[in-house]
Amino acid sequence: MASISNGTDFPLDRAVQDAQRVMAQRRAGCPVGHVHAGASHGEGWLVTRYDDVMSLMTDPRVKRDQRNVPELNTEEGHDSLLYLDPPDHTRIRRLVNKTFTPRAVELLRPKIEQLADELLDRVAAQSEVDLVAAFAFPIPLLVISELLGVPEDDRDEFSTWSEALNGIQDDPGTVRQAYAYLQKLVADKRAHPGDDLLSALSLAAAEEGGSLSEEELLANAVLLLVAGYDTTVFLIANTVLALLGAPEQLAEVRADPDLLPAAIEEVLRYDSPVNISSPRWATEPITLSDITVPAGQPLLVSIMSANRDASYFDEPDRFDIHRHQSTRHLGFGHGIHYCPGAPLARMETHIAVGKLIERFPDLQLAVSPETLTMRDSLLMHGPTTLPVRLS
Ligand code: HEM
Repeated sequence: MASISNGTDFPLDRAVQDAQRVMAQRRAGCPVGHVHAGASHGEGWLVTRYDDVMSLMTDPRVKRDQRNVPELNTEEGHDSLLYLDPPDHTRIRRLVNKTFTPRAVELLRPKIEQLADELLDRVAAQSEVDLVAAFAFPIPLLVISELLGVPEDDRDEFSTWSEALNGIQDDPGTVRQAYAYLQKLVADKRAHPGDDLLSALSLAAAEEGGSLSEEELLANAVLLLVAGYDTTVFLIANTVLALLGAPEQLAEVRADPDLLPAAIEEVLRYDSPVNISSPRWATEPITLSDITVPAGQPLLVSIMSANRDASYFDEPDRFDIHRHQSTRHLGFGHGIHYCPGAPLARMETHIAVGKLIERFPDLQLAVSPETLTMRDSLLMHGPTTLPVRLS
């Protein structure tokens, strides 16, 4: 059995800027190995191959909730979907599936279209612009505000708070304010339900006999915000980056906009916005790629790495919008925790990138791609800025 001190310890947190290359080395030389993954993930067993990642996502011996891992002997847990196992996960996820419907997503379309047009109007006169700040960030922020039912008057402050909760601002005071704000919002929605997802969740729970506590509603409001914000920012940014790096394919998409959904799917594979998901826990010894991870250990699955695995995807480092296998990417996860926001994220990205490339036929990257700084995170993968020339 491989032990923690078998020489595979690796300071992964120092490899963020070069994450794709480091993950390729891990897949080839040490597909399952113990790493130091920084403040966000702690230490754990990094799992990098497609088959191993996929199997962990459906293995009942693997838990998200630390309270279900006997070796950890802890009562401390978290009430958000991502950190729950059945039956609590099943109960809350059913409510989310019931309320976060295709219709609820479709209702957001006109607002997203309008905002995308306004943002592009605002930058149109500039020769050079940072697309992350000016375009990719504001779109998911509006969407989350609408979903959570944040009143118009609170939205400026809400943007500071949501940035704090996303870890962009390392400011404990602001994080506390953000929680306090969401706590008040959740209580308001329960008392005076509106036309938003938080209210719908609360009402649906009441209909089923009060099966969602205020703490659970709050925890999942925070999750919706955190899970739906940066991920979408980076899907928009990574899509623009990939298309600008493949001018012939960009020309094809411009000539036939029906190709855009396939291009977005290929970006979810080729440059996944999620690198390493939050930890899972082994409750029994689990053998992956001939390495046995002991019970009670954290498992860190790299979605980004799995999606570049050559034993699963032909020529995985090639961006190809005609690739038929793209839809088998793990960009939105797999199994019971599969992203419920996937249709919304696809729609936001489709609207944003579609409008951008239609409006600016001479769009170009203003710097060389190697000089872009990536977000300092093992959770998210994407550039902090994306300077482009519009004309
Ligand atoms: C879960 C990716 C957008 C809400 C997940 C997971 C992934 C993911 C990989 C599963 C994690 C795991 O099993 O370890 C993404 C990407 C997005 C995106 C790449 C954008 C491009 C959104 C949006 C929302 C959202 C827009 C909601 C507004 C959630 C929630 C979960 C989740 C609530 C937890 C589900 C559960 O545990 O049952 N997402 N997501 N995501 N996502 Fe997304």
